[in-house]
Amino acid sequence: MSHNVPKLNDPSLLKLNVAYVNGEWVQAKSGKTFEVHDPSSGKLIGTAPEFDSADTQLAIDAAAAAFPSFRNKTGRERSKLLRKWYDLMVENSEDIAKLITWENGKPLADAKGEAAYAASFFEWFSEEAPRIYGDTIPASVAGNRVVTIKEPVGVCGLITPWNFPAAMVTRKIGPALAAGCTVVAKSPGETPFTSLALAELAHRAGIPKGVVNVVSALKNTPEVGEILTSSPFVKKVSFTGSTGVGKLLMKQSSSTLKKLSFELGGNAPFIVFDDADLDVAVAGAIASKFRSSGQTCVCANRIFIQSGIYDEFAQKFAAKVKDFKVGGGYSEGVTHGPLIHDRAITKVDAHVRDAEKKGGKVIQGGQKMPELGSNFFQPTVITGMTTEMALASEETFGPVAGLFKFETEEEVTKVANSAEVGLAGYFFSKDLQRVFRVAEALEVGMVGVNTGLISDAAAPFGGVKESGFGREGSKYGIAEYQVTKMITYGGMGQPLQK
Ligand code: SIN
Repeated sequence: MSHNVPKLNDPSLLKLNVAYVNGEWVQAKSGKTFEVHDPSSGKLIGTAPEFDSADTQLAIDAAAAAFPSFRNKTGRERSKLLRKWYDLMVENSEDIAKLITWENGKPLADAKGEAAYAASFFEWFSEEAPRIYGDTIPASVAGNRVVTIKEPVGVCGLITPWNFPAAMVTRKIGPALAAGCTVVAKSPGETPFTSLALAELAHRAGIPKGVVNVVSALKNTPEVGEILTSSPFVKKVSFTGSTGVGKLLMKQSSSTLKKLSFELGGNAPFIVFDDADLDVAVAGAIASKFRSSGQTCVCANRIFIQSGIYDEFAQKFAAKVKDFKVGGGYSEGVTHGPLIHDRAITKVDAHVRDAEKKGGKVIQGGQKMPELGSNFFQPTVITGMTTEMALASEETFGPVAGLFKFETEEEVTKVANSAEVGLAGYFFSKDLQRVFRVAEALEVGMVGVNTGLISDAAAPFGGVKESGFGREGSKYGIAEYQVTKMITYGGMGQPLQK
């Protein structure tokens, strides 16, 4: 395989200049396209259609037209469709991984992991689709009978980010289809081709036309977001992205009072207590901080180490980071790829320079890597971090680990909870009482105890505070795409006397 252009086993999975609407591959009506570049080399991968609101409206219309018959399919029928799509994802996982690496930059091994993770949402929700139960409720009024049924909410607008080009799409489409909804998915401007390949597999799986629509836009993204959030035909919007954009989408959705679920930014605390298994904690920190080169919402952002083990942790941690091999995602032995674009590099560099200026010490990395390309930054470890530094209050979204020293459990919990956001939090300890205490005290939606990896289709993913609301994956994920209808049957008489 050449460094920049992967050879797909099935080249027809690469969809250029077309998006997927009403079961067909279509161009933007304006004929406009936008360029997508390989973040490793900066080279052009291809162009994708620049949809505007009129193009997106056609996708919404298609989803609305498909909804009445799709909602009436049995859960078992929807399950089979999702399972078929899952099987095709597994069969084509190598190509999906190559596409992910090409447009996102993550190393091929990580991209293979993402392809499997993405498919697991279809597997999980294909198993949930036939098990959508309501309740039978003892009524307060004699003679009445009360039941609930779960109904699909309707057409869903799904807006996904570039950091997991496959998994964020399937995590939303899986439960939506399982519930009986139809969707318009807006693919990320930086990484549209993976979502479009998934749409091709949906087509091959026999998903009925109009049920899944995948649109693309870069410059017009705000316009597409606006029509998805303001159209009366769209009943629900699910968004993964920044808190700032989430607030805007929420405002736009208010005129039609849509059901919403938002998975927004994080600033994950990662706490290592003196009593932790140090090697386990170091491995957990490496996995959590440097997964996707630090470009996940659940990545450790503030790493708090108790004073008794601070120096030893820093030294072991930095030694592991030194062993990373940074490079293009297809190159043999590469463990960490580029960042997505130059804005990401600018932010990461600013956080490192700010920490240095305020007394932090870079003990590993700390520099851009122009010899590899403009989007590469050395995996970095900084000691002597303080809460005045930008990294303490802003999500870095890059390969920079700032180590903060703390003395007591009370102090670290307070600082950890001082963030406005609360997505994930991690801590390491062998003290059972502390494990319960701290897990309950952290103001986050997800806690990893003695592990740095928590993502799983079976586990509810989501945040509190300004990290948003709603849960994805798990038995809770499907509820985001349903409404509970209550039915009271009056005058049903009294129970028989036995
Ligand atoms: C994210 O970064 O938003 C998702 C990470 C994950 O699913 O593990």
